[in-house]
Amino acid sequence: MVDAQQIKDLDAKYIVHTYGRSAFVLERGEGCYLYDTEGKRYLDFTTGIAVSALGYGYPAIVQAISEQAAKLSHVSNLFHTIPQAQLAQLLVQSSFADKVFFCNSGAESVEAAIKFARKWAKKNGGDNRTEFISMSNAFHGRTMGSLAITPRAAYQEPFMPLMPGARLATFNDLDSVKALLDERVCAVILEPMQGEGGIHAATPEFARGLREACDANGSLLIFDEVQCGLGRTGTLWAHEATGVTPDIMTLAKPLGGGLPMGATLMTEAVASSIVPGDHGSTFAGNPIVAAAAQVFFKTITAPGFLEQVRKMAGYLETALLGLKSKHAAIKDVRGRGMIWGIECNAPVAPVMAAAAEQGLLVLNAGANVVRLLPPLIINQAHVDEAVAAMDKAFGAL
Ligand SMILES: Cc1ncc(COP(=O)(O)O)c(C=O)c1O
Repeated sequence: MVDAQQIKDLDAKYIVHTYGRSAFVLERGEGCYLYDTEGKRYLDFTTGIAVSALGYGYPAIVQAISEQAAKLSHVSNLFHTIPQAQLAQLLVQSSFADKVFFCNSGAESVEAAIKFARKWAKKNGGDNRTEFISMSNAFHGRTMGSLAITPRAAYQEPFMPLMPGARLATFNDLDSVKALLDERVCAVILEPMQGEGGIHAATPEFARGLREACDANGSLLIFDEVQCGLGRTGTLWAHEATGVTPDIMTLAKPLGGGLPMGATLMTEAVASSIVPGDHGSTFAGNPIVAAAAQVFFKTITAPGFLEQVRKMAGYLETALLGLKSKHAAIKDVRGRGMIWGIECNAPVAPVMAAAAEQGLLVLNAGANVVRLLPPLIINQAHVDEAVAAMDKAFGAL
């Protein structure tokens, strides 16, 4: 048996501490469950922060990864490869987009969106159109560009100065955006459902208003669906709930079926301003990841799959509202599909620890919100098990 303490000692000695980690060491996963080195089982309502949407060891993904690894692994983007081209076709044919740029993470997909929007503006006579509007509580990533449009002092201040020209509007307040829109604004970026910011959905009126205001101002509209896209909210794209489409959309997290992959989708108008050499990434869209991504994407778009997600979401919502009625500490329950926030009137760290003790892993979104990102494949028994564990965990508050 692996000694958990030994692993934690190695971590403490050799890994830069950018994360606070769990007290246990995870060793394997199967379906919706994770197991630590002591053999303790956890129902996983974190999915590696919205990544492992089909759970662990999903047979078709394991098969695709091993077959592709045996056939052709990394060769770089200097060459055509079969899985990448086929994946691009799947993404485009299921979305507003005409073209895809592949990368390896969410922050990179946002970084690409920033660069492509800048290039589009330059190509269209907007040399001074270099600024971006993002929303209060937004999260777009940790790289210098994506960080500049992620308005959180604790994340930004240690690394100042950031990319200049980031303007901050108020989420779901169209007037606050209009007050900032002028001929210097290259693009407005919105998460249709904010994840890290506490599980807040953009209203359809807000999204529609943004679309109209961006068009009137000659600015692009970017949707960041890194966390909320690809089935997480119960529809393929979170923005389906708003009735409008963006010019650019960023994806990552679950796309690679558990392997690292990001994608920036765009209209032809944006794509046509990009030429070879403008941007790139050595690993992006590599055959193994793209093969896994194809299986993931075909699975979640198969007939009935998202219908079942929405059905289970209804069951989960009812159960969470039941919890709320029982525990005075719970102020609000909100979300959609398989992304939920339970807002409490106190910090939720003790609830998370108590839930883990009960064999349930959950996340937070800010200090006072428990965030649930279960696998899209959970059934009623998983929901019942999770809610029973949370019931005990909230009782410990
Ligand atoms: C909406 C959104 N955008 C971008 C990112 C950054 O993704 P990554 O951590 O893969 O760089 C995240 C990560 O949580 C996110 O939630």
